[in-house]
Amino acid sequence: METTRTTLVVGGTSGIGLAAARRLAAGGDTVHVASRDATKVAAVADTAPELVAHRVDGNDPAAVAELAAALAPVDALVVTLAGSEGAGTLADLDLAALRRAFEAKFWPTMTVLQATLPHLAKQASITLVGAISAHAAMPGTAGIGALNAAVEALVRPLAVELAPRRVNAVAPGLVDTPWWNDMPEQDRIAWFTAAEAGLPVGHVSSADEIAGAVALLATNTSMTGTIVEVDGGARFVQL
Ligand SMILES: NC(=O)c1ccc[n+]([C@@H]2O[C@H](COP(=O)([O-])OP(=O)(O)OC[C@H]3O[C@@H](n4cnc5c(N)ncnc54)[C@H](OP(=O)(O)O)[C@@H]3O)[C@@H](O)[C@H]2O)c1
Repeated sequence: METTRTTLVVGGTSGIGLAAARRLAAGGDTVHVASRDATKVAAVADTAPELVAHRVDGNDPAAVAELAAALAPVDALVVTLAGSEGAGTLADLDLAALRRAFEAKFWPTMTVLQATLPHLAKQASITLVGAISAHAAMPGTAGIGALNAAVEALVRPLAVELAPRRVNAVAPGLVDTPWWNDMPEQDRIAWFTAAEAGLPVGHVSSADEIAGAVALLATNTSMTGTIVEVDGGARFVQL
């Protein structure tokens, strides 16, 4: 009898993580999502009843380990969490905000990786999320580019160190998710409209387009140590 895979998406109650969770569930996985905000966790039951949502902070190693142990063996781990600070030109960059950005993305990513490791299946896949800011040369992104480069730099050494487990990442460009909700709506619409005019593909990515790459990395058993750029060509243009 075929058994279903157990998948855990930390950061899976919104945006790219939620879209990836839904894709993987549609493919037959039993998918658990985790994040901090009780409202977002509760909303998953309404919007995506096929998922099992948990309230866990990726920065809390004991809580992450407890959840992973309860689900073990975890066949696919996806980490899509992040804060929203850290952008700005060098002259104006708020270094305290950039430190917080590392605390909100790099350190919880490390915590989740370390805390789940004993509970991963031998052939498990791990999929991280960087960003195209780590590959492109966009003014105002040196700080967050460094942050996302730090996340992506984990991929290749861990692909070898943790083998036969697989470790990959996606590098999204501009994606229409709640990540942008802190920006006033009119500014966001203006920014997306301008970006669409400049992007080679002519549109801002949807969360589901990024989720398609996450699902590929999580399921293709020959892919490891790979960073997939899913940016609509953003790395080739100045937005
Ligand atoms: N949107 C873009 O344009 C874009 C572009 C490039 C890269 N990315 C990257 O894509 C990833 C996903 O972003 P998104 O756009 O999908 O953002 P999003 O819609 O804001 O989703 C982020 C998710 O992470 C969760 N989260 C944040 N901190 C957490 C923590 N400490 N522990 C557990 N969960 C946590 C949030 O839920 P809670 O608040 O409930 O914890 C939420 O579910 C991020 O790594 C981001 O840097 C996004």
